[in-house]
Amino acid sequence: MPKDTQLAVQDGFDNFFSTDRTAELLESAKPFLELMMQNECALREIETKLNVLNDEFSTMYNYNPIESIKTRVKDPLSIVEKMQRKGIQPTIANIETTLNDIAGVRVICSFPEDIYAIADILTMQDDISLIRKKDYIANPKPNGYRSLHLILGIPIFLSTGKKIMKVEVQFRTIAMDFWASLEHKLKYKHSIHNTEEISAKLKECADAITELDAKMQDIHNRIERENREAQESQE
Ligand code: GTP
Ligand code: MG
Repeated sequence: MPKDTQLAVQDGFDNFFSTDRTAELLESAKPFLELMMQNECALREIETKLNVLNDEFSTMYNYNPIESIKTRVKDPLSIVEKMQRKGIQPTIANIETTLNDIAGVRVICSFPEDIYAIADILTMQDDISLIRKKDYIANPKPNGYRSLHLILGIPIFLSTGKKIMKVEVQFRTIAMDFWASLEHKLKYKHSIHNTEEISAKLKECADAITELDAKMQDIHNRIERENREAQESQE
């Protein structure tokens, strides 16, 4: 960048963030920051509930159904882009009613059956409501994508009272996550010349992973059964 352009840009920023404008900017950003904060709080609530369940399973049954939990709040640019895509003006009220995935949780489970067990226990808790469910495990997407998606309603308690927040929770096994993460990466890279071939190969990988998940579940169930039988024969 030429020196004078650089100086002009610098000057622009200096004006933009001049003291009288900073207060104004911060004031207008407040409702958005408040929305982000509330979504962070909803994520913490869900994460705690999941950790409690995992700890309980660990203590009672010496078994951890959850491998890992990842949380994220959608970044502001993606929020605005998604609203634009939907052709809706990105006001705070519109964002809150339109988007279900500002707060997102990804729960990586060990085995497919753990997904339904944890999802059912969580959904049955009396402060949680199930807003929407998409079962891409029972009904995988045509490209092979598998996960259980829930949109949950969860209360957060603010100084002004209770507010119900929406959280998107995606449940996957380690194998499903492996496929989805790499497919997501590859989607932005593959050339337009061999799209069909690549899609077919990715679908093959998804099928192989479905088979692996089923085999691992089988081994797990067998070991559990044998352990139970050994314990019962000792009693
Ligand atoms: P969007 O959030 O706008 O996509 O709409 P939606 O909420 O109806 O979508 P859906 O519940 O089907 O999926 C939402 C999320 O699931 C995406 O943001 C991704 O994280 C994940 N997802 C869905 N389909 C795919 C897929 O084909 N590949 C991968 N890697 N991830 C997917
Ligand atoms: Mg989404």
